[in-house]
Amino acid sequence: MGELTERIAPVAPGAAIIEVEDLVKRYRKGKTNAVDGISFSVRSGEFFALLGPNGAGKTTTISILTTTLIPTSGRVRIGGNDVVTQASSVRRQVGIIFQNPSLDMNLTGEENVRFHAVLYGLYPYRPQFRLMPTAYRQQVRELAALLSIEADIFRPIKVLSGGTRRKLEIIRSLMHRPAVLFLDEPTRGLDTNGRRNLWEYLRGVQAAGTTVFLTTHYLEEAEAADSVCIINRGRIVSFGPPSRIKAELVSEHVLIDADDRDRLRAELVTRGVAFAETPLFKIKLDGRSAHQLLKAIDTPLSVVAIHQPSLEDAYLSIIGKIDD
Ligand SMILES: Nc1ncnc2c1ncn2[C@@H]1O[C@H](COP(=O)(O)OP(=O)(O)OP(=O)(O)O)[C@@H](O)[C@H]1O
Ligand SMILES: [Mg+2]
Repeated sequence: MGELTERIAPVAPGAAIIEVEDLVKRYRKGKTNAVDGISFSVRSGEFFALLGPNGAGKTTTISILTTTLIPTSGRVRIGGNDVVTQASSVRRQVGIIFQNPSLDMNLTGEENVRFHAVLYGLYPYRPQFRLMPTAYRQQVRELAALLSIEADIFRPIKVLSGGTRRKLEIIRSLMHRPAVLFLDEPTRGLDTNGRRNLWEYLRGVQAAGTTVFLTTHYLEEAEAADSVCIINRGRIVSFGPPSRIKAELVSEHVLIDADDRDRLRAELVTRGVAFAETPLFKIKLDGRSAHQLLKAIDTPLSVVAIHQPSLEDAYLSIIGKIDD
C-alpha cells in the first residue's frame, strides 16, 4: 500500500482532483456524440453527483474518467494525471463500482475481493482466506460487517442475491482506499437497509478525505451532494450546489386554503397576489417571506403549507422542458 501511495502526490483538500475539459465521445457506430463537449471540475473531498436521464452519457463519462474508455477528444486529468497518457497512475487513484455487475460467478465473494486486492498489489496472494495477512482479513471483515453480509462472503457468487453481489462489488472497489471513488448507480438493487448502510459508509469515506463521484436515478440521494452536474444528450444542462440549482429553477411557494374560498380568492385578487388554484391556492414566494404574506391576509385560513422544492422538482423542470 505504502509503495503505491508514495508515487502519487496527494491532492490538497479543496484543490481540483478531477478536471474535465471539452470532453467528447462518439462511439464507432454512434450517429451522435454520446458525450458532447462537457467541462467541469471536482474538488478533492467533494461529494459529486452526475445526474441525467437514461442515455444521457453518465456511464460513458465515468468510463472515460476511470480509463476504461478512450475519449474521442478533450482532456481529463485525475489528481493531475491524464487519463489517456498516464492511465496506470489514474487507475491507482480510483475505485469504481460499475453499473453492470462484474464478479466471477464461480468464485466466492471473498475470493473475488482477494484477487482484486492482489491484482492491485495491496496484499500478497495466499490460496486461502485464513492464510492472508491479518490486515487484509480485518479489512474484509469490517467492510462485510458494515454492509451486513458477513455470512455470505464465503459463498459462491452464483448462489447470492443481486443485492448481496452489489455489496461485494462495493467492498472490492474500496479495498485499495482510492482517492476518488466512482459509483455508477451503486444503490440500484439494494434494499432499504443496504442503501442506508451504504450511505452511512460513503459519508465516512468522504469524511476521511475520499472524493465521491456518483451517478444515480434517485434524486434524493443527490440532495446532500456538494455539487451536482445534470447532463442530457451528452451536454451539461445545469451545474452547481443543489441549493443553487433549486433556487434558479423552482421557487418556494406556499399553499393555502379557506372554508370561504370565494372570499379568499377575491382578497388575493384585490391585494394583487398572483396565485394558481391547484386546487389549493398556490402562491410563489419569489423571495418574500411566507410570514409577511400570510400576515397580510384577513380571510380565515383552513390550510397553510410551505413547499420547499426538492432537487427532483428542479431536475424535472429542466429535463421536462428539454424533452417537451
Ligand atoms: N458501446 C456503445 N456503442 C455505441 N453506443 C453506445 C455504447 N454505449 C453507450 N452508447 C450510447 O451512448 C449514449 C450514452 O450512453 P450511457 O450509457 O453513457 O448513458 P447513461 O447516462 O449511463 O444512461 P443510463 O442512465 O441508462 O445508465 C446512449 O445513446 C447509448 O445508446
Ligand atoms: Mg449508465
